Amino acid sequence: MKKILVTGGLGFIGSHTVVELQNEGFEVLIIDDLSNSTIEVLDKITSITTIKPSYFNIDLKDKVAVQKFFKENKVAGVIHFAASKAVGESVERPLEYYENNIGSLVYLLKEMKANLVNNFIFSSSCTVYGQADELPITENASVKPAESPYGNTKKIGEEIIKDTTKVSEITAIALRYFNPIGAHKSAKIGELPIGVPQNLIPFVTQTAAGIRKELSVFGSDYPTSDGTAVRDYLHVVDLAKAHIVALRRLLSNNNKTSFEVFNIGTGRGNSVLEIIKSFEKVTGKKLNYKLVDRREGDITAAYADTTLANNELGWKAELTLDEALLSAWNWQQTL
Ligand code: WQD
Repeated sequence: MKKILVTGGLGFIGSHTVVELQNEGFEVLIIDDLSNSTIEVLDKITSITTIKPSYFNIDLKDKVAVQKFFKENKVAGVIHFAASKAVGESVERPLEYYENNIGSLVYLLKEMKANLVNNFIFSSSCTVYGQADELPITENASVKPAESPYGNTKKIGEEIIKDTTKVSEITAIALRYFNPIGAHKSAKIGELPIGVPQNLIPFVTQTAAGIRKELSVFGSDYPTSDGTAVRDYLHVVDLAKAHIVALRRLLSNNNKTSFEVFNIGTGRGNSVLEIIKSFEKVTGKKLNYKLVDRREGDITAAYADTTLANNELGWKAELTLDEALLSAWNWQQTL
């Protein structure tokens, strides 16, 4: 059974990917420093798959601990989620973001190179495109100056990986996520924002649950069909499955170059008001919301051209927006 290291494997996307890896027969080892996740997620994963992943409480900035891990564990590949990811927070605390997101990546790659671990999947983001000049967005759309240190760590991260693949046996795939939402159908794992949610869907579900008084819709004067901003919302389980397909591509040496990039989205855009209407429809809940000013740094619209992922990677989003929103609501009701 091939062993796969998942860093950040107790986080939102990481935990869903661990479940899919186990479903596919991989042995999963998780490194997570619990800075943005809880240890209870480990038991939740186990309750879904009946297989308990090996767990290591390691901070990837701890070089010695990372070296020790790779000396003691022979893994066939690494899926790297572990990173700080709050856009607003990164603006206030850039050095923490560069140290954590870039420092961890460098130490991880150094140990992979030293231990001949040659398959690497990187969690990147559509944020590297900024406001793309054309929609839908293809992988060769220009990568724009980052709107935040968080976005910059994704851009720089891709460059570091690309440079490393040129001088080592490491082959890598960067998956540029659009907007992951929803939760596993068991409602045992899902998005667990700490404090006031920054992202739209957790704020929607917390408003519906009465935890938040009302949702603020950031901006109603965008040049879109209804004035609110448009994003490509994809079910987190579809996103998790994309990691398995990408990993298998590397494990079977089907990659065309040593560093590949794929947009992972549905290819469809929905506005904030459309999300609200869909949520109310699938849940029967009435949502309190108000239209307020735009949020600093937000773009008008982003949705993926998924041709490359569909044709080259052999991956396509299967679950619908309604299924994703209902799964998010089912998850919220367990909290
Ligand atoms: C979506 C839309 C908001 C909250 C960011 C990162 C991206 C990824 C996902 C980490 C926007 C609007 C939101 C609210 C609102 N993060 N909104 N009221 O900004 O597209 O992407 O999160 O990997 O890298 O850039 O996602 O969910 O914050 O916002 O109106 O209370 O919802 O203005 O139009 P975003 P989001």
